[in-house]
Amino acid sequence: MNKSFKEFLYEDLRFTVFNGVYEPSDDTFLIAENLHVGKGEEVLDVGTGCGILDVLSAFKASRVIAIDMNPIAVRCAKANADRNGISEKIDFICGDLLSPLRDGVSFNLVLFNAPYLPVEEEPKDWLDYSWSGGRSGRETVRRFIETVSEYVKIGGRIMLVQSSLSNINETLNDLKERGFEANIANEKRFFFETILLIKAIKH
Ligand SMILES: C[S@@+](CC[C@H](N)C(=O)[O-])C[C@H]1O[C@@H](n2cnc3c(N)ncnc32)[C@H](O)[C@@H]1O
Repeated sequence: MNKSFKEFLYEDLRFTVFNGVYEPSDDTFLIAENLHVGKGEEVLDVGTGCGILDVLSAFKASRVIAIDMNPIAVRCAKANADRNGISEKIDFICGDLLSPLRDGVSFNLVLFNAPYLPVEEEPKDWLDYSWSGGRSGRETVRRFIETVSEYVKIGGRIMLVQSSLSNINETLNDLKERGFEANIANEKRFFFETILLIKAIKH
C-alpha cells in the first residue's frame, strides 16, 4: 500500500507528515532543541511545514500564528495541532512570508527554519520550496529580513536557520542593519556543511 503520510514522535507528541510537506530534519531539531518560549508570549512560525515548531511553542505561548506558502503544509500543521489538542491557540495562514500579517501585529518570538540551499533550477513542486533558497541560497531569507523587524517587539527575538553553503555573514549584517543584535546561537556540523541557528534580538 502506498502510504500518503509519515508519522513521528517528538517529546511524546505525535505528528503526521503529509506527502508534499517537509519532513522534520536536523535543521528543525536545531530550533526545537533550543526553543525557549516564555509563558504568555506571542509566537510567529514562518514556513511551519508539518507544524512541529508551532505545536511545541503553543504549549507555553498565549498565541501562535503559523504561516506557510504550501497549502498542504497548512492543512498538515492544522491536523497536527488538532491531534495534539492545542489548535485553539494557533492560527494557520497560507501565504508568502510575512505578507498575510496585518499592520501593527508584533511578536515576542519569530521562528523560521528557512529554505536555505543554493539551487540553480526553479522549484517544480511545493516540496522544492522547502529547501530552495534561490541561486545564492539567501533569496527567501533576504526577503524575510527586509520586513521582519516591524513584526518583532522591542526585546523580541528571531530564531533563523541557515547553512554554511550560503553567506551567513551577509545574513548577520542584514539583521544588524535592521536593528537586531545577531549571533550564531548553535550549530550542527556535517561532512559537507554546517547548519547554523542564528538568534537575533531587536533593540
Ligand atoms: C525547511 S522547511 C521547514 C518546515 C518546518 N518549519 C520544520 O522546521 O520542519 C521550510 C518551509 O518554509 C516554507 N516556505 C518556503 N518559502 C516560503 C515563503 N516564501 N513563504 C512561506 N513559507 C515558505 C516551505 O513550504 C516549508 O514548509
